[in-house]
Amino acid sequence: MSNDKNLEPSKGSRPPAMELGRQSPPSSDASSRIPGFYRLPVEERRRLLRLRADLSEQDMRTLDGGGIDTAVADRVVENAVGVYALPLGVALNFVVNGRDVLVPMAVEEPSVIAAASNAARMVREGGGFVAEADDPVMTAQIEIVGVDDPDGARARLEAASADLLALAHATLPNLADRGGGARELEVRTFPGRVIVHVHIDCRDAMGANMVNTVAEALAERVARLARGRSGLRILTNLCDRRRVRVQARVPARALATENLDGGAVRDGVVAASRFAEDDPYRAATHNKGIMNGVDAVVIATGNDWRGVEAGAHAFAAADGRYRPLAVWREEKGDLVGQLEMPMAVGTVGGTLHAHAGARLAQRMLGVTDAKRLAMIIGSAGLASNLAALRALATEGIQRGHMALHRKSQPVAVLEPPQPVAAKSVT
Ligand code: MEV
Repeated sequence: MSNDKNLEPSKGSRPPAMELGRQSPPSSDASSRIPGFYRLPVEERRRLLRLRADLSEQDMRTLDGGGIDTAVADRVVENAVGVYALPLGVALNFVVNGRDVLVPMAVEEPSVIAAASNAARMVREGGGFVAEADDPVMTAQIEIVGVDDPDGARARLEAASADLLALAHATLPNLADRGGGARELEVRTFPGRVIVHVHIDCRDAMGANMVNTVAEALAERVARLARGRSGLRILTNLCDRRRVRVQARVPARALATENLDGGAVRDGVVAASRFAEDDPYRAATHNKGIMNGVDAVVIATGNDWRGVEAGAHAFAAADGRYRPLAVWREEKGDLVGQLEMPMAVGTVGGTLHAHAGARLAQRMLGVTDAKRLAMIIGSAGLASNLAALRALATEGIQRGHMALHRKSQPVAVLEPPQPVAAKSVT
């Protein structure tokens, strides 16, 4: 974490632990920058996407079909009667840790993709997003109830920790082969109750199934050691050991609008951040703007957005007060944003085996590594937050938002589409 005082959030906010610094500018042939993309017909956008992301004819057909059909849906959920589609778009201009990336977003809300692309272009001028992710550690909770002596139980469980971890490890031999496995055991005590946490490195999987398997496999042994009865055995979605941290530095000039110079916009974004840091009512909406970007990529890549949402909001309130997941400050004239949040996403397992659309989205991103995916998703969240705060601090959200809303209206009433005076998304 930079020691710069200006970067310290308002009292009580958690700053991400990262060094801030300018990155070298991205190369000029960077592939996520496609000027005029939003003006092109869909077919031409697809042609460009296919070239840049090296996609196949089959991938193009997947874009039309949405990735699953009713037969697949019938294998995935119960009582299936069809599939429910969402628009899929590509956010442009993203550079994450020096690499360009085309970011697939599945979302029904107009302006989310345009806003993220616009903000990513501004961040690009400061060198792009700089991100880091923790090891992919998820936590199993094993609850033991009816414990007369929680402190004695803790001592016995801690003494047996190595054996319990070995048992957890043996339960997941494939994970161990991939370099993951149970890492640490933690005992928490409450009156009459003991909760054992088993921290498990899930490698490239989101990990819910593996973690739940371990919780169930260990519960009886843990209950005997604690001299109580086994209660719930399930992962926690407050996966605060699996966080992503993202920073963005934007030169003030890149923030200027028609009517306001960049310095004034920068100061407006910082003031908007302070508002969210001071007021949980505002923090909820501020975080909703972050989740606009996060969820759109989580959904496109076939991940569990309910889990990511639960983790985000629990983390936002972890010290007893609901706080923003990203904060913005002025530093040496630039606007600097930092986001920190849990990010339980995988590149293997889950829906991916069934959903061709999710597999395609991951190929577009060029990710096989869950940590890199988490960093890109965090960057999409920070971009969405910047776009919202910049709009709110200047002309308000409605002008741009409504222009793009109008674009979707004629479809609903089956009239020909109107040209949109939308802001450039290039
Ligand atoms: C709308 O989807 C999201 C915003 O409300 C976020 C914010 O207020 O920061 C614009």
